[in-house]
Amino acid sequence: MGYETIASPVNLGGLVLKNRIIFAPTSFGLPEERLLERLRRIAAGGCAMIIVGDVPAGRSPFGSLYSARGFARYRRLCEAVHREGCLICAQLHQSDSDLAGMVRYLPGVLTKRYSMDQLRELLNQRVGPYISSLPAEKVAGITASFGSAAVLAAKAGFDMVQVHGDRMCGSFASPLFNRRQDRYGASVVNRARFAVEAVTSIRRSMPDMPIDFKLAVRQEEPHYGNAGMLVEELPVLIPLLEQAGVTSFHVALADHSRLSDTIPPANHPYFSSQGCFLRYADEVRSLTRLPVCGVGGLTDPDFVEEQLKSGRIDCAAMSRQLLADPDWPRKVTEGNTDAVRQCVRCNRDCLGGIQRHEGVHCVFDREQV
Ligand SMILES: Cc1cc2nc3c(=O)[nH]c(=O)nc-3n(C[C@H](O)[C@H](O)[C@H](O)COP(=O)(O)O)c2cc1C
Ligand code: SF4
Repeated sequence: MGYETIASPVNLGGLVLKNRIIFAPTSFGLPEERLLERLRRIAAGGCAMIIVGDVPAGRSPFGSLYSARGFARYRRLCEAVHREGCLICAQLHQSDSDLAGMVRYLPGVLTKRYSMDQLRELLNQRVGPYISSLPAEKVAGITASFGSAAVLAAKAGFDMVQVHGDRMCGSFASPLFNRRQDRYGASVVNRARFAVEAVTSIRRSMPDMPIDFKLAVRQEEPHYGNAGMLVEELPVLIPLLEQAGVTSFHVALADHSRLSDTIPPANHPYFSSQGCFLRYADEVRSLTRLPVCGVGGLTDPDFVEEQLKSGRIDCAAMSRQLLADPDWPRKVTEGNTDAVRQCVRCNRDCLGGIQRHEGVHCVFDREQV
């Protein structure tokens, strides 16, 4: 099989990608030097763009674009990725964890009374009350910070920004968390306002910057995903985001549920197949003419080529596959598919590494040691 479509360029909001493969946003939990080397290595494997996961839109005690040290760190990342001929995008996100509320769980975490999954569940329980009681002026200040962060991201060298439609965008979008009765709550238009204001703020600050939006989609029957918008609500959300200035969409299952749903293993009861979230991308495709990027269980070169060639998606984003084999794009575009080390979607050392506080790795790395 030929892989001409994978190897062909694509235009995202005026930015030309050399091929269709994007490294999906991935938090590594690694120290600076090791993160830099991992992203450089992924860039060297031939993907067209790396999306750096979870870049804070506001000031953050964990480092952000606003501090001299944080800015310098992102600048080095951008330079390292660019040197390998790869573009780089900042995933701007706003956490919806109630930091003050988190403090009460610290002793339990330090004494290992709570596992990471339990802590996540406890934090999720606080999201609704937290975002439902944030004063409206404070919310407007948070959405405005996306514009300031985009200006800094461009200065640091990022080629594009992605608004993370999950986290605070996602919890505002979902009535499972958002109980507000003001302009940020109740109707779909009001629940979409956080995301729309964040995008508008970026567009005002950076008139020419490509803006990708990570659409967090949830569904009922069966119930999957808690934050984000229901598939049935997308016809309202997508035109609003387009009018605000979004230039492409990246479509995945909404979060605030089990991580093994958003990063599904091969034995997942519902999302076990290749391209497991593409059903949501199909919905988005039917509602917009903007480029749509698919993600989720994309590992097989023939399958990926077929989805791109048929026009089902315009780009294919991969997290775990490029952790397992950063050279997937180069090997596939050179027709050397036999040499590809295909991710088996076991989640043992990537998601497992994060959960064990060891940072993201891959079972295949162990074989090389
Ligand atoms: C270790 C790890 C960390 C991730 N971190 C993020 C993140 O920071 N932001 C995000 O939007 N998605 C994150 N994801 C989800 C991925 O972007 C992707 O949607 C998901 O893994 C499914 O794609 P895949 O089958 O290619 O891995 C992460 C995934 C993994 C495996
Ligand atoms: S450990 Fe490696 S092979 Fe297993 S899911 Fe993670 S990236 Fe894929």
